[in-house]
Amino acid sequence: MLDIDALISDRAHAIDVSGIRRVFELGAQLENPINLSIGQPNFPVPQQIKQAAIKAIEDDRNGYTLTQGTPELLDAISAHLADDVSWTVPSDDLGVMVTSGTSGALLLAFLTMLNPGDEAIIGDPYFVIYPALGTITGAKTVLCDTYPDFRMTAERVEPLLTDRTRLVLLNSPGNPSGVVLTNAELRDLVDLCESRGVMIVSDEIYDAFTYDDAREDGRFPSPARMSRNLLLIRGFGKSYGCTGWRLGYAAGPKPLIQQMAKLQQYTFVCAPSMAQVGVAEAFNVDLSDHVAAYERKRNMVEAAFEDVTELVHPGGAFYAFVKIPERLGMTAQQFAEDAVQQRVLAIPGNVFSQRDTHLRLSYAAPDETVKAGLEILRRMMGKR
Ligand SMILES: Cc1ncc(COP(=O)(O)O)c(C=O)c1O
Repeated sequence: MLDIDALISDRAHAIDVSGIRRVFELGAQLENPINLSIGQPNFPVPQQIKQAAIKAIEDDRNGYTLTQGTPELLDAISAHLADDVSWTVPSDDLGVMVTSGTSGALLLAFLTMLNPGDEAIIGDPYFVIYPALGTITGAKTVLCDTYPDFRMTAERVEPLLTDRTRLVLLNSPGNPSGVVLTNAELRDLVDLCESRGVMIVSDEIYDAFTYDDAREDGRFPSPARMSRNLLLIRGFGKSYGCTGWRLGYAAGPKPLIQQMAKLQQYTFVCAPSMAQVGVAEAFNVDLSDHVAAYERKRNMVEAAFEDVTELVHPGGAFYAFVKIPERLGMTAQQFAEDAVQQRVLAIPGNVFSQRDTHLRLSYAAPDETVKAGLEILRRMMGKR
């Protein structure tokens, strides 16, 4: 008999998924939940992307691709980045690669830049895998407390920099808060990190979902327009409703991308072939109706909580991080468990944070679902 537990690494043991699992287990008991917990779009993959992927399978494009990605997808990303952030990729100083999801790019970035004991600064609240990336790579993730406004500013980052800091991980629009940093805030972060020899890794997976009032000059604010000395990570899953296809990309300093590609070759090998062919069509797709629909739902969420509790304005993504009113004297975990009794599924803040004071709602759901969920949550919170 093998003692399997004794064969599990400390690294694996150290990752705790109990918070999320508990919500899903509770939800699984419900017949017809009002589900505001799902972190992916509720629209289907656009037709031309589906057709291109189907054709790729039928044309037998099912083998390995080049590690860095198929030429047509790399060309499409290259044209998009030239238009969006004025980066020419690939070029003498910049490289680009397709990854197995945005998560794949994040893992490769950590593996490539951090030795055990090196430090990466991440915001709190954070996307769930960020601290785990530290656990997996042996690096230390240093939390930057961004409460109560969820803005990871240079002022908050600066005191956390040490001689072991290698990277600062930004996520705007943010999960779980939906907060979008301004160009002025990004400028300060870029200046700070460049002056201290620290890499910015910018996780821009929600870039497509940036609403009017958070755009500047009509565009989503990205630090890539201010510097070429950073690692830009974006994805296709959220923007085009194909999270299961596992596709993202990374662009940045060429030597860094080359090292990341080397590690990809020995781990993921390449991103899924037919999916790469499919999303090569992505930048021709007009997402404006979907973005407008989510902006409308965002407004519904804000209106619902206006006279009930605090909600930091979400300028993007499809999340709202709603404060559990202090007068209830409850943790978010307790509130989320009570909400399940009312058929509403949402994720408590302790899944994304050291604190347990907020509830993450995803409004990537049909209007009726969002409306029904908001009505119940409002009622549970009571008037101010
Ligand atoms: C901020 C953030 N980064 C990365 C990811 C992972 O995306 P992917 O499915 O492309 O790996 C997510 C998914 O929820 C996310 O919210």
